[in-house]
Order: sequence, then structure tokens, then C-alpha cells
Amino acid sequence: MKHILFVCLGNICRSPSAEAVFNAMIANEGLGNELICDSAGTIAYHAGEPADYRMKQYAKKRGYLLTSISRPVDPKTDFDRFNFLIGMDKQNVTDLKLMARNEDDKKRIFLMTDFCSDAKHDGVPDPYYGGAAGFELVLDILEDACEGLIRKVRER
Ligand code: 4NP
Repeated sequence: MKHILFVCLGNICRSPSAEAVFNAMIANEGLGNELICDSAGTIAYHAGEPADYRMKQYAKKRGYLLTSISRPVDPKTDFDRFNFLIGMDKQNVTDLKLMARNEDDKKRIFLMTDFCSDAKHDGVPDPYYGGAAGFELVLDILEDACEGLIRKVRER
């Protein structure tokens, strides 16, 4: 079993969406016995809250149900529990590297858009202070990245 943790800033928009898109894909492809995921934030500000209502609405239009509750990354346990910790943007990756306890932890950290087939995005942009287009873009990028991620993780 490979364990994947999706990480963004607040854990209420991008990483809960990544989790939902990934779960839908592994269900479709019958990979539930190989891959499992969770999500977390680099800040604890929204801990205990459900996903952002706007993110939930745009995800639902594409058939994704966001059910996760925000929690912060716990470096003491998450680097042991997860094989891959995947930051949504470069700042998330930088923050994860600062939380890493050693070189082995650092090797588990990746940037979500590195798994995209479409190389035009360098990070999943934070949609929090923007409008509809930002939320749709998050979902477009995540659908592309999750496909590539599933292929990569299964190769290893
Ligand atoms: P996320 O979006 O990192 O994709 O969950 C954000 C959520 C909250 C904030 C920023 C981004 N915030 O500033 O509270």
C-alpha cells in the first residue's frame, strides 16, 4: 500500500480537492487496495473546519464530494505514515522541507504540478481570494496531476 498526503496552506481548498479527485480516480480504476490518501495544511488556522463552500460547489459540479476536515501537517507522524507528501505550490514544498526531520523525510516531498502532462503550471494557484475561474483552474490542474501521479506512484 502506498500512502499519499496532499498538502496546501489552509487544507480547505486545494488539498481536500486533490484528495477527492484522487479518490474518485482510484475508485474508477479499482486501485483502492494499492493507494490511499489524506490531506493536511501547513497552517492550523482552519483546523476542524470542512472545506471552503465555494470549492465544494465547484467540485460537486464535476462529481467530487469534499468531505475532509482541515488539519495541520504533523511532522512527527506524517513523514512516517506517508510515502509521498505532495505540496500544491512551491511555498508548500518549502514549508514541508522546513518541517522535515532528516534527508529521508525530504526525499518524500514533491510538487503536485510535477506530475502534470501539461507543463504550463508551476504549482496549483491559491483560489481563496479569487473568483470562479480560480476554482475551475484548481480542478483542471488537479485532474491532470492526479492522473500522472497515479501512474508514477504505481511504477515505483
Ligand atoms: P488552500 O486555500 O491552501 O488551498 O486551502 C487557502 C485557504 C485559506 C487561506 C489561504 C488559502 N487563508 O489565508 O486563510
